[in-house]
Amino acid sequence: MTRTVYVNGDYLPETEAKVSIFDRGFLMADGVYEVTSVLEGKLIDFDGHAKRLARSLNELEMTCPIPEEELLAMHRELVARNGIDQGMIYLQVTRGNPGDRSFVFPDASLPGTIVAFTQNIPNLADAPAAKTGFRVITIPDLRWSRVDIKTVQLLYPSMGKMAAKKAGVDDSWFTDEAGRVTEGTSNNAYIVKGNRIITRALGNDILHGITRAAVLRFAAEAQYEIEERPFTPEEAQGADEAFSTAASIFVMPVVEVDGKPVGTGKPGPVAVRLREIYLDEMRKAAI
Ligand code: PDD
Repeated sequence: MTRTVYVNGDYLPETEAKVSIFDRGFLMADGVYEVTSVLEGKLIDFDGHAKRLARSLNELEMTCPIPEEELLAMHRELVARNGIDQGMIYLQVTRGNPGDRSFVFPDASLPGTIVAFTQNIPNLADAPAAKTGFRVITIPDLRWSRVDIKTVQLLYPSMGKMAAKKAGVDDSWFTDEAGRVTEGTSNNAYIVKGNRIITRALGNDILHGITRAAVLRFAAEAQYEIEERPFTPEEAQGADEAFSTAASIFVMPVVEVDGKPVGTGKPGPVAVRLREIYLDEMRKAAI
């Protein structure tokens, strides 16, 4: 089915949507993005994603090409026009098309490019992987040092996903120079020990996950202790449980790290419970 996508104010069939070859998103990966999930036709944590988009733009001295108040209506319009029940909305803003290639930023008055499209994923909340859990390998984190900005420079994360695929597992977790886990290719990483949930603190070395913020809030409300500090793959292997979070996977149990089972090697009760709480609460708050 041909999707209706959004390009700079217009809703178009995907086959008619065009962006210039001079667009800085294409030539320089000079752009930022957000992925918002949709459940029962409603947006999950839209406010969080809109706030992080504003932060990413600000960090790169970019402005949103359309008024930020219009982003919500545009997301809803895409959901409606494409009849999305479960899935995701991808939104990308680039520094625009200066008409040539240059390392110098174009004048700030040049309008940016804004595009968005839907991804229809009928079993997003019921993903089979959530029942078996992810198996992960660890690889060195070779990304740039500002991964807190959600840029479209996703080549290394994509290579990380391919390394996992080649190893016959589901994802890679990145490790810093001291051998400690930063995050997954496209998700935040956690371990569980007893009643304690351990995850790396916010900084420039991880993306400030919108799902992370909600899950930690719900976990604290459910009386789990939260410890924000780095952990090693070895500590993960010896933990009771592990899991990853992102808008695309919600709370995903992690059952194996570098070939060794975590806990029982099956999705653990804390991850399963947090997934249930997250989905329940976010469905209630969806807009
Ligand atoms: N990725 N860390 C990285 C590197 C990510 O790319 C993502 C999200 C997250 C989780 O962020 P959030 O909870 O806000 O989705 C953490 C999206 C889903 C993607 O690139 O498709």
